[in-house]
This record gives sequence, C-alpha cells and structure tokens, in this order.
Amino acid sequence: EKGGYEHFMIKEIYEQPKAVRETMTGRLAKDDSGVTFDELKWSKYDVAAIRKIAIVACGTAYHAGIVGKYLIENLARIPVEVDVASEFRYRSPLIDDQTLTIVISQSGETLDTLAALKEAKNLGSRTLAVTNVVGSSIAREADQVIYTWAGPEIAVASTKAYTTQLIVMALLSIYMGALKGALSPEKIHQLCQELKNLPGQVHELLEDVEPIKTFAQQYGFNEDVFFIGRSLDYAVALEGSLKLKEISYIHAEAYAAGELKHGTLALIIEGVPVIALATQKDVYEKILSNIKEVKARDAVVIGVGLKGDTELAKYVDHTIYIPATGKFLAPILSVIPLQLLAYYAAVTRGCDVDKPRNLAKSVTVE
Ligand code: M6R
Repeated sequence: EKGGYEHFMIKEIYEQPKAVRETMTGRLAKDDSGVTFDELKWSKYDVAAIRKIAIVACGTAYHAGIVGKYLIENLARIPVEVDVASEFRYRSPLIDDQTLTIVISQSGETLDTLAALKEAKNLGSRTLAVTNVVGSSIAREADQVIYTWAGPEIAVASTKAYTTQLIVMALLSIYMGALKGALSPEKIHQLCQELKNLPGQVHELLEDVEPIKTFAQQYGFNEDVFFIGRSLDYAVALEGSLKLKEISYIHAEAYAAGELKHGTLALIIEGVPVIALATQKDVYEKILSNIKEVKARDAVVIGVGLKGDTELAKYVDHTIYIPATGKFLAPILSVIPLQLLAYYAAVTRGCDVDKPRNLAKSVTVE
C-alpha cells in the first residue's frame, strides 16, 4: 500500500501535486475570476460581521494557521490571532459572537483542538473547521467545515495535509477578501492564476531531489540545525524545523531572522548548518544581511530562493531554488525541500521515518 515507495512519508510528499489540485477543484473558478465555497455560501454581510478571527490548532496545523493569519490579514484585512490549542483553552480568550474561530486539524480528532472549538462555541463564536477527515469529531462539532482533499495521511509527519491546509487558507483569504471588497478583480485574477500553477510547480520541485538528498547526507549527522526567515518565510522555517526534529531527532530551531541578534546568534559557530529562506521580496535585503551575520560566524548556509534569483548564491554555500510564484503562495513550494531534507536526514540516520519515537499520529489525550 506504499505504492512502491519505501515509506508513507515520501509517498505522501509525492502525492502533493494531486492533493493540492484536488483541494482547489470546484473552488477555484475556471476563468480565474474568483473562489467559491459551496460549503460556506457566505454573503458580503456574513463577512462584514466578522470583527476578528481566531485560528486555533496544534503542531503542523498551527504552522498552517500562522500562514493563514498573514494571508487573511493581508488579503481580507480582518485581524487574526493564532494560538496553539493547548494555550487557547486555558487563557480565557476574548472571543464573542463577532469572532470567527477557525480550527485546523488534519485528523479532526486532536483533543486540545476539539476542546478549544467547544470553548469557542460556548463563548458564542461562529466556528469553522478545516480538516482532512470527513465526519471526524471536529468536523461534526464545528458550525461549518472546509475539507482539505489530501487523501489519507498515514505517516506521523504531516506533509500533504500541511500544503493543502495552506491552499485552503489562500482560497479562504481570497474568498473573504473579495466579499469584503478588499481585493481588485485584477489582484484576484493574478492570485487565482498563481494558485492554478501550483500543482505543476510542486511536481517540478519533486522531479529533482538529488541535491537535497546530498545535503541531508552531508549534514545529517550534525546535532544542531537552524532555520531562519522573515515574514512568511519564518512560518515555513517553523514547519521545516518541526519536521526535522520529529523524524530525524536532530535538534532544530527556527528563528525570525531579525531575532538572531537578540540571543541566538550566540549559538552560531563554525560549521553549524543554517537554512535561510529568502522567498519574500519585501524583506529580501533584510534576510541577506542576516545571512551575512551568520556567515561571518562561519555557519554553513543553505539558501532557499526563487528561481531566477541571481543574488542569493553570492551569499550562501548552497542554494535550493523553488519555482517563482507570488509571495503569498511561496510557502506551499518552499516547504517541500524542507520536508525532503527532513525525510532524507531521517533515512541517513536510520530513523523509523513513519513512526518516530514517542509520537502518535493523532493526539487524542492531553
Ligand atoms: O491531526 P492534527 O492536524 O490536529 O494534528 C496536529 C499535530 O499533532 C500534528 O500536526 C503534528 O504536529 C505532526 N506530527 C507534525 O508533523
């Protein structure tokens, strides 16, 4: 049932072009004019009534929520807060009937996320679940549900669920942005076209994984790895770092690159691998100066940039390029080399990729 692949994780990584396409099907208009959600059917009044959005999730789904915050705030201009469910539950959140609570959960069974959803409902919030499992507890509890059509995810490390969660966040942002009048038809058109290009671009990325395999073999025995990025690249850094930790057991940390000087730079010494994401044009110069900071301490830097970027290679030791796309969708592509890096590092170290120690696929206990 692994379809010729050695592990479920790598099979699921390779299923991403299809998963991404299926999550958009029927939602993205054929002529790129906008987004529809038959399961929501919101009016402009429904969206205007949302004063605040609270996104609640755990682990990788929480990282999708961080991207969601950025997308919704930028494209739909609605304030968003993001919490891990185990914090949200116990912090007496300021949620009311003018709040939309979005819970994200691949399995739809994560106990803390389900409890947070119930808490939000008790406080009078409207609720929306983004989940991959039809009829799951979270799907049944929420007022409305958007399914990610990733297909069953078996490996403990979440991959295709994450990329499809990002697709839903992008679609939802465009949907709400259009209903709010926050987006011009041209902007909507451009975003829809970029979305439509994604499945092919994900496929393209998966065609040549040899360089990533080589990095994993080269650096797979280091005990510490750092991921840095700014803006959406920081959100992806968090996900890349979690992936590496959970399956290869390498100690990894993700930092907002601007925070390096506030402490972490002390840990950067000769030979430490730093994975620097540089896909966000508006902070590009800033990340280059952070790369210079770590290079000055003799870190080994792997830069992740957009195809066509001729600058990045001058500052880093190795480069990984992702197909060019707009800043909002770049995370859907830039996370893929990081998933592969984690996978091949785990294989290099002889780890049990699909069933990492101490972890369960869905956390139904506290
Ligand atoms: O099923 P959920 O999306 O609610 O699961 C949330 C986390 O447990 C999950 O994403 C976990 O962090 C993964 N093992 C990450 O790869």
